[in-house]
Amino acid sequence: MAKQKKILRSFESNDPLDHYITEISFRMTPAQKKLYEVTLMHPKSIMMGAPEVLQLLQNLIRAIKAKNVIDVGVFTGCSTLAQALALPEDGKVVACDIQEETIKLGKPFWEE
Ligand SMILES: C[S@@+](CC[C@H](N)C(=O)[O-])C[C@H]1O[C@@H](n2cnc3c(N)ncnc32)[C@H](O)[C@@H]1O
Repeated sequence: MAKQKKILRSFESNDPLDHYITEISFRMTPAQKKLYEVTLMHPKSIMMGAPEVLQLLQNLIRAIKAKNVIDVGVFTGCSTLAQALALPEDGKVVACDIQEETIKLGKPFWEE
């Protein structure tokens, strides 16, 4: 029986094909890209929402025309920013976390 490849999130993969596919299919704003790069340097970067998951989440938010989002578990806020960008001008994200430290890393990119 063939050994199954362990499924990794894009940013955990060393496979150049995974990198190529994700590079050409992500639609991140400059602020998202910067936050993604900063978060990758964090010792707990494994907690970051994978870009492919966040892009799917954005598509779902747009599909149901959501106006309000509650983001429980912010970390540096990659999910918070992705969701905010998918909402209409009058949309609102309520972002909750039990710690402040990593949120501070993300806030400048939310503002940008
Ligand atoms: C996997 S990370 C979230 C990743 C983030 N959504 C992203 O896309 O990068 C989990 C976060 O949940 C937070 N957390 C843990 N327990 C929590 C709780 N009871 N209420 C709110 N946040 C919590 C942690 O502090 C951590 O920042």
